[in-house]
Amino acid sequence: MDPQEPKITGTAAADETAKTATAERVGARLEPDGSLLLTGLSLAPVPDRVEPAGVVFRGAPRAQPGPGMPYTITQRELVWADNLQELIERAKRRQWNASTDIPWAAGRNVAPDVEDAVAVILTWMLQQEYAAWYLPAKFVAQIHPAYTEVGLFLSTQIVDEARHIEAFLKRLYLNGVGLQEVAAGTESSIKGLLMQDDFARASFLLHVLGEGTFTDLFHLLIEIAPDEATRQIMVRSLEDEARHVAYGVGRLRTHLSAQRDVAAVGQQFVEALEARLSFTYEVSGLPPYVQEALAIVAGRGRSPVALGRGVQRVRQFIDELNANRKQRLLQSGFPEPLAEHISQLHIRSSGGLM
Ligand SMILES: [Fe+2]
Ligand SMILES: [Fe+2]
Repeated sequence: MDPQEPKITGTAAADETAKTATAERVGARLEPDGSLLLTGLSLAPVPDRVEPAGVVFRGAPRAQPGPGMPYTITQRELVWADNLQELIERAKRRQWNASTDIPWAAGRNVAPDVEDAVAVILTWMLQQEYAAWYLPAKFVAQIHPAYTEVGLFLSTQIVDEARHIEAFLKRLYLNGVGLQEVAAGTESSIKGLLMQDDFARASFLLHVLGEGTFTDLFHLLIEIAPDEATRQIMVRSLEDEARHVAYGVGRLRTHLSAQRDVAAVGQQFVEALEARLSFTYEVSGLPPYVQEALAIVAGRGRSPVALGRGVQRVRQFIDELNANRKQRLLQSGFPEPLAEHISQLHIRSSGGLM
């Protein structure tokens, strides 16, 4: 026997074992540019439903059941959106810095009447931003880690909203004007949203209705901003906001497409909106004092001619808001009469836009 033979055989056997192990281990698929996305990993499939237990990503081997946990989000259809991966990546790419990415020096020398009106608008918007910040933060720890991608996305939203608060505060105090008087109705309305304990309803109210309308408001403010600093804040914030709405609409599509009875789900949302009415004193989608401030900014002043111009633009904007809201509801999969009903209820219950 060739003295080397056993050695060769041994190596061949080892190679065979290595091949088998390699066959079972599917490595990550890198993108052409070398980056690694979660979709490049061989992760366990997203489960339809999970027990509220354990603290580990889906697919972990375990010999014993995990400890019970206070997760309330344990069903795929209530939380998943097919566009999650894309939204997570886009959110990371498009982060910005409120200290350095806004041309603050270009926000000086705004006419006093217009500057005061900007402060009224921003004070009210700042309050809405707290709703958009605190609500996802409240729910992140309630998401079962089987749906970690949702937590990753909502974490980007939390950072986005914190940045909006920072940017609005900076613009408010840029020229020494600062916060304006707080309206009671606005706070009651936001409280009604923050008290919501059901994620599907909260996401519908915040991501689809509230932030949907906020994207329209950002469009208007990009158009009427009196200075480049304000305009840039709105451009950047709009991009963030559009991602939040895209998640909300994507989540709602998943939710509605899993239902035999879409009207029954719609009814739950209608009830959530009706419940919010009890928190709200105001009955308009945009409080009158905010509409007035928008008109001053749009018309560039308080003179009758300027104000007339501004009021006309704001009236037109309210019509755009209502049309766009209904369009979003139809896109999410609601039938027309339900979309109309929900849209009308939102106008009555929001007292603010959120
Ligand atoms: Fe925001
Ligand atoms: Fe947002």
